[in-house]
Amino acid sequence: MTDSFYEHLFGVRDKVALVTGGTRGIGLMIAEGLVRCGAKVYITSRKEDACKAAEEKLSAFGYCTAIPGDISNLDGIKALSAEIISREQQLHVLVNNAGLSWSANIDEFPEKAWDKVMDLDAKGPFFLTQSLLPQLRAAASAESRSTVINISSVNAIRPSGLQNYSYVAAKAGLQGLSAQMARDLNSDNINVNVIAPGPFKSKMTAPLYANEEVEKQVMESFTMGRWGVMEDASGLTIFLASRAGSFLTGVVIPCDGGASTIG
Ligand SMILES: NC(=O)c1ccc[n+]([C@@H]2O[C@H](COP(=O)([O-])OP(=O)(O)OC[C@H]3O[C@@H](n4cnc5c(N)ncnc54)[C@H](OP(=O)(O)O)[C@@H]3O)[C@@H](O)[C@H]2O)c1
Repeated sequence: MTDSFYEHLFGVRDKVALVTGGTRGIGLMIAEGLVRCGAKVYITSRKEDACKAAEEKLSAFGYCTAIPGDISNLDGIKALSAEIISREQQLHVLVNNAGLSWSANIDEFPEKAWDKVMDLDAKGPFFLTQSLLPQLRAAASAESRSTVINISSVNAIRPSGLQNYSYVAAKAGLQGLSAQMARDLNSDNINVNVIAPGPFKSKMTAPLYANEEVEKQVMESFTMGRWGVMEDASGLTIFLASRAGSFLTGVVIPCDGGASTIG
């Protein structure tokens, strides 16, 4: 295999990508992998200081621009899209990663926790994709399909002890939605796939490694007994965004060390 064939197969160089929630955790891991492989990467999150810090960190490896904004509502989604559209005519890769979870006892689970999670984890990916369809379509061809990657969760595949009801509903809904969108966007040469992560260290999962004893128990419940790392999240994203993953659409790929399949 020559280097150029490797680039043909797995290369994402010069592709334009947007990673939501790209300032920390899994989104930052995905954005770092894409930047280091030569993609032109935009990231977004609500906090301006977090955006600045992540942009600075990733710019050491290549192109990264952060655009602050809240994508849990249509005004925020439209504002972000307008920023992207003003800079780029084409968008090759959209990673809908931003998400939040909420845990509460089943008898007390509040309605506001339902709406907040649904707004970001289910509504956000749909309307952000909708608003960027002209750019995704403009980047797509039969030879080089555009890619939407929605980040779900192993929790949408197997129940856990987390009592995160709206999160499970939102992520399972996102998986169904992705298959529908994959079907409807197929003729536009746009792939829509889902990555369902298992455990990755992040602000969201901080309670799961709050101390050694808790972390040990959590790791014992996961088949490979380790946390996912940058290479795991970004490697799968790069595969789906490159020629190598072009024949996959409408699929859910667990990235969980076997937890949902052999765990
Ligand atoms: N970590 C895991 O083990 C795990 C497992 C399964 C699935 N996942 C999924 O992976 C994705 C990333 O999770 P994570 O663990 O990396 O979470 P995280 O560390 O909490 O990061 C979430 C990111 O989303 C941004 N964000 C939150 N609300 C937003 C909003 N309204 N608008 C725009 N950006 C917003 C956050 O930045 P700001 O606060 O600045 O907005 C941050 O950049 C989520 O969809 C999550 O459900 C994670």
